[in-house]
Amino acid sequence: MDGLAAYQATLNQPLPAGAYPGDVVVRQPIERYSAADQQTWRTLYRRQSALMPGRAATAFVEALAALELGDAIPDFEQLSARLMRATGWRIVAVNGLCSDRVFFEHLANRRFPVTWWLRAPEQLDYLQEPDLFHDVFGHVPLLMNKIFADYMQAYGKGGLKALAVGGEQALAQLARLYWYTVEFGLIREAKGLRLYGAGILSSKGETLYALDSDTPHRLRFELERIMRTDYKIDEFQRCYFVIDSFNELFDATRPDFTPLYRALAGAEDIAADAIVAGDVMIGRMAA
Ligand code: PHE
Ligand code: FE
Repeated sequence: MDGLAAYQATLNQPLPAGAYPGDVVVRQPIERYSAADQQTWRTLYRRQSALMPGRAATAFVEALAALELGDAIPDFEQLSARLMRATGWRIVAVNGLCSDRVFFEHLANRRFPVTWWLRAPEQLDYLQEPDLFHDVFGHVPLLMNKIFADYMQAYGKGGLKALAVGGEQALAQLARLYWYTVEFGLIREAKGLRLYGAGILSSKGETLYALDSDTPHRLRFELERIMRTDYKIDEFQRCYFVIDSFNELFDATRPDFTPLYRALAGAEDIAADAIVAGDVMIGRMAA
């Protein structure tokens, strides 16, 4: 039985008490979406996709357009087939957040867990947990990009290794890396700063804030700096880290992190709004 078949054998099994809701793969209950859900999807999609050109990373804008997801809540099987052809990834439906091990195992096997349910109409602007819109609109387009897709898999493998050889601190440092890249990353393109983090791209407010506000610091990507930096989960970020290319991200994270975890073990955390020696600030209009 391959990994996915093993997960699917657990379909719709009751979870043990205290388990994470996302720890089993479920079937996307596509018949359960109401007309109101479909309307919420179209509203969110239309609003957000209109903001993407000139703000989101070119690779994101192009993949989003190619996927044509605007008319209805996507069918995960069909979306997986597209992804599989492009980069060998697929998506699996889950009820919510996964535990670290399950999440890392999915990524390491090129599966992205997607929450199947959609936010309520009164939550268009914000909700604290990932839902279908965040997961599909924010994360799936870049899984069509070969280098980014490879980075995501490498991250999953790195997570499994951290579970084996690292401690709590290594996991926290790895979570920060995910946060400041996959969720809230910025990239410098020829025409200026662009967004690639899913947490930004699935939020209208943060899409505008991350590029236009004077409040957050925009700092040059630096792996160890990121691994020491706290983050806020319930407000707009106070700092963003800027890469020059997905290749840079992939290459910078390729070395074995084991010595890095050890070297950073005694290091002090950096507050989300702090500037420290060595930081390279990047102007809003940077090109
Ligand atoms: N190179 C990292 C390690 O050895 C794994 C990793 C890759 C982590 C990409 C994060 C992102 O642990
Ligand atoms: Fe996310």
